Amino acid sequence: MSGQMPLPNPPVRFAPAMEVPAGNEAEINRALIDTMGKISQTTLEHSGHATRSVHAKSHGVLRGEFTVLDALPPALAQGLFASPGRYDAILRFSTIPGDILDDSVSTPRGLAVKLVGVPGARLTGSEADSTQDFIMVNGPAFTAPTPEKFLGSLKTLAATTDHAEGLKKVVSAVARGAEAVIEAFGGKSATITTMGGQKQTHILGETFYSQVPILYGDHIAKVSLVPVGDLATLTGAPIHTADDPNALRTAVSQHYATSGGEWEFRVQLCTDLETMPIEDASVVWPEDQSPYVTVATLRTAAQESWSPEAVAAYDEGLSFSPWHGLAAHRPLGGVMRARNSTYVSSAEFRSRHNGCPIHEPKSL
Ligand code: HEM
Repeated sequence: MSGQMPLPNPPVRFAPAMEVPAGNEAEINRALIDTMGKISQTTLEHSGHATRSVHAKSHGVLRGEFTVLDALPPALAQGLFASPGRYDAILRFSTIPGDILDDSVSTPRGLAVKLVGVPGARLTGSEADSTQDFIMVNGPAFTAPTPEKFLGSLKTLAATTDHAEGLKKVVSAVARGAEAVIEAFGGKSATITTMGGQKQTHILGETFYSQVPILYGDHIAKVSLVPVGDLATLTGAPIHTADDPNALRTAVSQHYATSGGEWEFRVQLCTDLETMPIEDASVVWPEDQSPYVTVATLRTAAQESWSPEAVAAYDEGLSFSPWHGLAAHRPLGGVMRARNSTYVSSAEFRSRHNGCPIHEPKSL
């Protein structure tokens, strides 16, 4: 269920006691920073260039305009969405691995959006800025319930970073087959998808999700971006990676050479903490209890999606983090808390080794 429709249940009103940090979070955070640092160091040694520890490969960077709808009902008119407004936006499409792989190794996709010139009280650590980032992946929940569990799979990823790409291609092809079997039996294996079982489809047709919750003013929400109009016709459209190691980038460039694109930005309010928990990032919040509802649109005009200038400014020169933003949209839960220092650390590594300072933009 989606789009504009009345909320079936009243949303939960957030209270700080709803966040319950685990006792060992500081220790897990240090291990995450350490493991991610190893991924970055490995790729730096092999390529001579520092990239993001995960989501290293970008498939396009775009400029757009984000418009908050007017006359939203009170439960949805919160934080940035409290009043209608238009903000410049920067978009970066990515895939999950920490190394730059041939696109025939098909892995889940990310979309990071940065709004600039956003007014309002800021998150700690983000006080000097005026941006609001939303960082999403094309699945409704995270692969692991907690940062501690995620650390386990990250160690596997770190161990396979920069290993023979040929092997990963085989793993990916096998995983796609296994995924088809699992789907046929009515399930979806998050693990297999993360290890490379993503279908080889057009990235512009994907629906992207925050996967984990944010504060939504008085409430708690997950957010998503859903392609509409022309972009919706690309959902599930096959792309051909056999002869093009950068097939996703090519597909985005070809689309934007002549056309623009539009997404609806939707929020799913938490209406029941039992079925829509804050601290378990792996739970898909049931849409029959609380549908995603449109609160804004994101429009992009036809443009060059991989120009050297835009790549230098947005792919290399920016960091996207859920902790860049308004206090009214504070990231919630253990996985979100773990992302605070890990994103800073990865961005600092890139900044240090590439001699390219990373800072938050004041405007496009
Ligand atoms: C404990 C859990 C997580 C950790 C430790 C983590 C860590 C990181 C790090 C270090 C980066 C690179 C930052 C940079 O160099 O600028 C990154 C990028 C990214 N992460 Fe996460 N992440 C976590 C969870 C998630 C979740 C739940 C999502 C789902 C929405 C996500 C989506 C992304 C995306 C899309 C990017 C690329 C952002 C960009 O384009 O710059 N991550 N992550």
